[in-house]
Amino acid sequence: MNIRTQLETIITQALADAGALNDAPAVVKTSSRPEFGDYQANGIMGAAKALKMNPREFAARVLENLDLSTYADKLEIAGPGFINIHLKNEWLQQQVEKTLESDRLNIEKAEHPETVVIDYSAPNLAKEMHVGHLRSTIIGDAIARVLEFTGHKVIRQNHVGDWGTQFGMLLTYMGELKQQDKEITLQLADLEKFYQAAKVRFDEDPDFAKQARDNVVKLQAGDPEFLALWKQFIDTSLTHCDEIYKILNVLLTREDVMPESAYNDDLANVISDLKTKGLLTEDQGAQCVFLEEFKGKDDSIIPMIVQKSDGGYLYATTDLAALRYRNDTLKMTRGLYLVDARQSLHLRQVFAVGKKAGFVKEETSLEHMAFGTMMGKDGTPFKTRTGGTVKLIDLLNEAQQRALDLVTKKNPDLEQESRESIAKTVGIGAVKYADLSKNRTSDYIFNWDTMLSFEGNTAPYLQYAYARIQSIFRKAGAIDTSAKIIIEEPAERQLASKLLQLSEAIEAVAKDGTPNILCNYLYELSGNFMTFYEACPIMKADENIKQSRLKLSQLTANTLKTGLDLLGIDVMERM
Ligand code: ARG
Repeated sequence: MNIRTQLETIITQALADAGALNDAPAVVKTSSRPEFGDYQANGIMGAAKALKMNPREFAARVLENLDLSTYADKLEIAGPGFINIHLKNEWLQQQVEKTLESDRLNIEKAEHPETVVIDYSAPNLAKEMHVGHLRSTIIGDAIARVLEFTGHKVIRQNHVGDWGTQFGMLLTYMGELKQQDKEITLQLADLEKFYQAAKVRFDEDPDFAKQARDNVVKLQAGDPEFLALWKQFIDTSLTHCDEIYKILNVLLTREDVMPESAYNDDLANVISDLKTKGLLTEDQGAQCVFLEEFKGKDDSIIPMIVQKSDGGYLYATTDLAALRYRNDTLKMTRGLYLVDARQSLHLRQVFAVGKKAGFVKEETSLEHMAFGTMMGKDGTPFKTRTGGTVKLIDLLNEAQQRALDLVTKKNPDLEQESRESIAKTVGIGAVKYADLSKNRTSDYIFNWDTMLSFEGNTAPYLQYAYARIQSIFRKAGAIDTSAKIIIEEPAERQLASKLLQLSEAIEAVAKDGTPNILCNYLYELSGNFMTFYEACPIMKADENIKQSRLKLSQLTANTLKTGLDLLGIDVMERM
């Protein structure tokens, strides 16, 4: 249940009843400070201005038309014309009870479920996954989890690059190794090294380079020998991706892989359909689409090239084919693309051309959920000490090792096995959370020390809050489920009110693809819990108060666990 939306609806109606023009919205927000109540309606001033009325006077008129007696016991006009809403303890108590009983924390499913295609991760398979793939993979996964939880049909699409010119180089190199009777499987064990070695051959030997170019053409024409080599390579590369997904606790499987190569046979159709629609223009031998809306600085249109003069197709051509597949076969009603911000022009063009060509329904919402670059401490893109790209597997191993050192320091007596399992959960959680908690559109600085800290807005802090509550339960024994929730102390109110705001955070993520809102919520919730825990003793309180506080703790733990799970992060009972 989303309290904010409920209040918004009721107060907006009161605004209208008080004479506001044009459905002026109530603009209800959570209050920034407890003394301003739990929620605040900020829309009064705007509505009053349109009526040329004094805002406080208009606010008084709104109050005359407003009945919030079920929810609130105090409404007050504040400042230039806000309305502060103080929720009733009794109402909070009921809602906390209800949420505690619900197995989905009283979060409603979407009224109009969509079929959401989420395009995420999508590495190029020629090389190993590197840090550049991290953001798309984990942000996309969190959004997918949230949309699924809120009742949408989610279709994951891993649009991996498996068909470009680089494969000509790799296949030629595989062919050479085969001739030398070398064990290819062994060589493929380190994809990165394999790629480097092939690249050396490509750069040093013009004959090799020419063969490589010929071989891509043969591959794309379906030559059985090259196809077999290619399959072997792709399979190795995907197995490597699967390992990474498993470590990362990301839900992508082989079934979600819909590679670029799958659209190969449809690319000629894409071109001929664009032609039929009158969208194609030849420019210096290449087939292009010129749309008015893509004017560059000098007023000339930036074309989208869909076929090169040599007949070859492009990344954009494949994306158009994929768009049509998602529309026709997957029945997508909403499409999310978790792709680096640098591809923004490319995607805007794909979306616009796709709609003009009728490859996708006009009303389908296509959203580029862009993200910035992961930076090193020095503010330049994250690199190894020698300036190379960081392999994702190395980064994840380092995360677990660093977490193990931390856990060992904190808890030297714990068995090795437990320490390792905790380290895995903490280390991977820390890397994921550090990314998810940032505003996705900006670049962010990757910093081991801050992300692994037990203080601040970090995974270890939240995981620790959860484990701490579990330790309270171990001491307290079974909770009396029939006990009533009693809310009296300010810290109890604060916590209860926050506990009821989960749906607001979840709805924001579902709508805007912003997991950082959920992270922030969980962080604030943990803070409220810590304050409550200090101000409101549990074990020493009278039995009925003790049970009530245990129940509040229980709901806090459930909320942390569900929230972190939606982010793809695990919790543990002890740490
Ligand atoms: N493979 C691409 C890359 O690494 C990302 C693909 C994103 N998805 C898409 N439909 N274009 O840059």
